[in-house]
Amino acid sequence: MEDLLKTVANILRSSKNAVVLTGAGISAESGIPTFRGTNGLWKKYRAEDLATPFAFQRNPRLVWEWYAWRMDLISKAKPNPAHITLAEMEKEGIIKAVITQNVDGLHFRAGSKNVIELHGNIWRIKCVNCNWKTVLNSPPSQIPPICEKCGGLMRPDVVWFHEPLPQDALHEAFKLAAQSDVMLIIGTSGVVQPAASLPLITREHGGTLIEINVTDTPLTPICQYTLRGKAGEILPKIHKHLKNTD
Ligand code: APR
Repeated sequence: MEDLLKTVANILRSSKNAVVLTGAGISAESGIPTFRGTNGLWKKYRAEDLATPFAFQRNPRLVWEWYAWRMDLISKAKPNPAHITLAEMEKEGIIKAVITQNVDGLHFRAGSKNVIELHGNIWRIKCVNCNWKTVLNSPPSQIPPICEKCGGLMRPDVVWFHEPLPQDALHEAFKLAAQSDVMLIIGTSGVVQPAASLPLITREHGGTLIEINVTDTPLTPICQYTLRGKAGEILPKIHKHLKNTD
């Protein structure tokens, strides 16, 4: 593994436009359960009961109870060494941007600046009636929260199944993927579109794909390098090699 870490560090050091794609796995070591895999959230809940516009229409209280529980969990979570290392690598000019599927905001809390949130942010809520938005810093006191402007229902400003992604974020992500010469793919099962297509775009444009995950994923076969293990352990090791000129 040491040689592989050195190789990946050298690739990053000589890259001109490295970007990162992250999924729930990068926040697992912050205590936030992933969606799939062994202790995945979807094991306990049925996605169609919660993360869809129909579920919200049918039972806004149930959906809000799940999001309030996740907000509480996230408010107690801290960025882990993986988030922190990516923020340092951005400051050092090694990586240009983080494209994340996560809604927990931990990349920003770790100090990353150029973060594209493909699936929205759990702390932002919006009115289903007038689209008024506001940002919370703790779970709403009233469930479901009501719009201050028009009295309509407020919902989490996140992307649910069957919903389009925010166009500006998606456009920026595809542009970055096409321009990047290296993409670090960290903690994603690579099964949800369109995020899962971003590595393919980098690969098609001649870029190098490096996967960091505890298990194989459908993206593994197209990655030139695969680092098997926890992001919070692997990224600091890569960073250490990046700083030594060995
Ligand atoms: N380090 C690295 N990878 C990890 C770690 C870890 N410590 N722990 C888990 N993983 C990996 C798992 O092996 C899995 O491949 O993280 C991945 C998490 O996959 P998912 O739970 O499917 O999360 P994600 O890929 O982000 O899901 C994509 O699906 O449910 C929707 O909108 C939701 O953004 C989410 C999207």
